[in-house]
This record gives sequence, structure tokens and C-alpha cells, in this order.
Amino acid sequence: MNSENLLSRKEFLSQCGMLGAIAVLSPLVGSAENLAVPERKVKVAVIGCGSVSNMYLPHLSKSPYVELVSCCDIIPERAKQQAEKYKIPNYYPHIDKLLAGEPFDLLVNLTDMQEHGRLNKQALLAGKNVWSEKPLANTYKEGVDLVSLSKKKGLRIWGAPAVVNSPQFAFMAKSIKEGKLGKVAAAHAHYGHLGPTWSAFFYEKGGGSLPDLGVYNLATLTGLLGPAKSVIAMTSIVTPKRKTDNKGEISVIAEDNAMIIMEHDNGVLSHVQCGFNYFDPYGHEGKGQEKPSITIYGTHGNMHLVGYDWAPFGVDMATSENEKTVRFVSDAGTYVWEQGASVIAESIVNAKEPLITVEHALHVLEVIEAARASQATGKRVQLQSTFKYPVV
Ligand SMILES: NC(=O)c1ccc[n+]([C@@H]2O[C@H](COP(=O)([O-])OP(=O)(O)OC[C@H]3O[C@@H](n4cnc5c(N)ncnc54)[C@H](O)[C@@H]3O)[C@@H](O)[C@H]2O)c1
Repeated sequence: MNSENLLSRKEFLSQCGMLGAIAVLSPLVGSAENLAVPERKVKVAVIGCGSVSNMYLPHLSKSPYVELVSCCDIIPERAKQQAEKYKIPNYYPHIDKLLAGEPFDLLVNLTDMQEHGRLNKQALLAGKNVWSEKPLANTYKEGVDLVSLSKKKGLRIWGAPAVVNSPQFAFMAKSIKEGKLGKVAAAHAHYGHLGPTWSAFFYEKGGGSLPDLGVYNLATLTGLLGPAKSVIAMTSIVTPKRKTDNKGEISVIAEDNAMIIMEHDNGVLSHVQCGFNYFDPYGHEGKGQEKPSITIYGTHGNMHLVGYDWAPFGVDMATSENEKTVRFVSDAGTYVWEQGASVIAESIVNAKEPLITVEHALHVLEVIEAARASQATGKRVQLQSTFKYPVV
């Protein structure tokens, strides 16, 4: 390992407040550099033991980089149930008890969207690194403050989605970079279904189809085309009343139908549409969706991501050199959308920056906020945030 690598690995670990903890045993030192099995695992606590925990916990529990130490839910039976199912030694009914209980390194936040900012802040203040489901915070400003706090505390925070990790994303990014599409001009992405039924928060203030569904497409398109400079959008509510499992019939407050146009550098325009009123025979899980949900057009070619960006099946591409559409990367390898927290744990153990950056998550949050402002004012909204681009 050269000294530059060693320095950046040390910097990474010290930014996670883990230099002392992992450096003693990890690949950072000497000849143990390329160990297949890590000598030290990241101690992980999961907060929020609802629907998505049924995807995260199986993945985390199989990761060789993770030791699941605690879980927590304000509905204590849920925490107990998941603790028993996944052999997690400690479970708690409140974040205060979780933070004061068995020590851990990384909080995985899988609670209601509206709770993320508050709980992420509490975890950072208690000296924990954070992986948060989307959105990272309720507002862009709250997200910026969280990142400043993490830096001040010598910690790190990251946010879903993990779409930039897929081999299909890598292929598309590479094809654009190599000029296979010529000059890129326009892109479209869509994601929708009939909306979650189990929890009301998806339809309450701070919820909506943008932070729940559109967020994937926004991360993919900004990741491929670069940060957005401005946004214009319309949002609406198509179904004003919903039946939910936890609160019965509720009035829908957050948008359930959205269209955004983003302006990127060099005149590139992209469009994202999402909503909770899309009949989709592939349902919430998207299984079997074999049509493209993301399309990118350039002067010499076009590219279509088959399936959803969070569950891709391949990329169809036609170019001026080969006009017949060919399918590439029809294997997603080990990529699954619920891998985010496991990948972060692996990054911490290996002291290697992950592809996912908090700046990208913050940018997507700013786009969502700008879309709401554009709807409210009827105006185009300029953005301030940016992130490291190209991503791959
Ligand atoms: N369900 C999915 O398929 C899915 C997929 C990807 C991402 N997500 C995201 O995951 C998050 C959770 O979604 P979900 O579908 O699992 O919701 P859910 O309602 O099924 O689960 C949320 C859980 O968090 C708990 N909770 C809420 N506030 C809490 C607090 N202050 N402290 C401790 N626990 C608290 C709730 O009691 C509930 O058990 C959301 O951000 C959602 O957008 C969900």
C-alpha cells in the first residue's frame, strides 16, 4: 500500500470516528491488507422495524462486515420480533434507550420519513455514524446542518438510495463518458405504483411520492447527467383520501403525483415522473417489470434501463455505429437496492470511500424541495448544491 492510500484510508476512518476502533485489527495495518474475511465488524443498530426492515435485516445479517447489536422501534413488539428473528442480542422501545444501551458504530435509520432528520441528529450527537433511508432529513437546510454536525463530531452520515452501485448504472455512466451517445440531450425516468397501504406517513406532510419513489430516478439521472442547475415542476393530489392500516382513512396532504424537469450542464434536460396512482401490474415490488423505466437520448445513440433503477435487468442501447438495439449488462451481480447499509459497513471496515456520497443525497433532497417550491410558486427554481461528478 503506498503512503497516499494509507493516508486516505486513515482519513476515512478518522472521519467515521473509527480510527482507534478498526485500525487495531483491520486491513489498514501491514500485511493483512487484502483479507477476504474482515477481522473487525462494524457494530450496527437498526431503528425502525417495519416493512423495509424485512429487506435490510436479511442483507445486514448475512454481511461479513456487520455485527447486528441492537434494534429499536416505538412499537416495541416489532423490535422484539425482529431481534428474535435475526438473533439481535438487544432491543429497545426508544432511541434514548438505544443510544444509552449496548455500544455501536453505525445507526441504520428505517423509520418514517418525517422522523429521519430528528433521529439522525440525535444519533450524530451521541457519536454514531448514520445510514439513513431516504430522505436524509425533512428539509435541505436540515440535511446541510446534519452534514456540518457530522463533520464537527468527526463522524459520517450517508443516505439512500444505493442506485449508483448497480452495474447497469456503471455501464450507462461509462457509455455516456465514452461518447457512445454523442452529445446527450434529454432523458426520462418514471416510477409509480398504487401507493403503500401499511403506514399513513407516506401521505402526510413531509411524505409524498417524490421522497419515496421519485428519489430513485432523481439520484440516477443526476448521477448520470450531473448535478441539476434548476428545476421546474408540477405536483398534485389525485386521491385525496386513503385507507391506511395504522390510521384508517386519512386525508392526503403530500403530493401523490409529480412531474419534474431538471436542467443539467450543457443544455441537457431530464424529466422524472412518479406517483402513487399508477396502475402497475408489477406492483410495489416491481418484479417482472421488463420494460425500460429510464431512457437517455443523445445525437449518436439512445440507452434504456430495463426494469427499475433500484432493480435493473439490463441496458438496451442503439448507436449510430450499431443501429440494432443490443442488451448489455443483463446481470445485476450482487447489487440489490437494500444493500446500502451493508455496503457502508464494508466501506468502513476496508476504509474505502463508497460510491454513495452524502452530497449526492443532499442534492436530490434539494431537487425535491425545489419541485415543491416550483409547484407552490409556478416558477423555475435555481439550485445551489452539487456533488462529485462523474460518480463512477
Ligand atoms: N417499505 C419499503 O418497501 C421501502 C423500500 C425502500 C425504502 N423505504 C423507506 O424506508 C422507510 C420506512 O418505510 P417502511 O415502509 O418500512 O415504513 P413502516 O411504517 O413499515 O416502518 C417504519 C417503522 O418505524 C417505526 N418508527 C417510527 N418512528 C420511530 C421512532 N421515532 N423511533 C423508533 N421507531 C420509529 C414505526 O413504528 C415503524 O415500525 C421510509 O423512509 C421509506 O421511504 C421503504
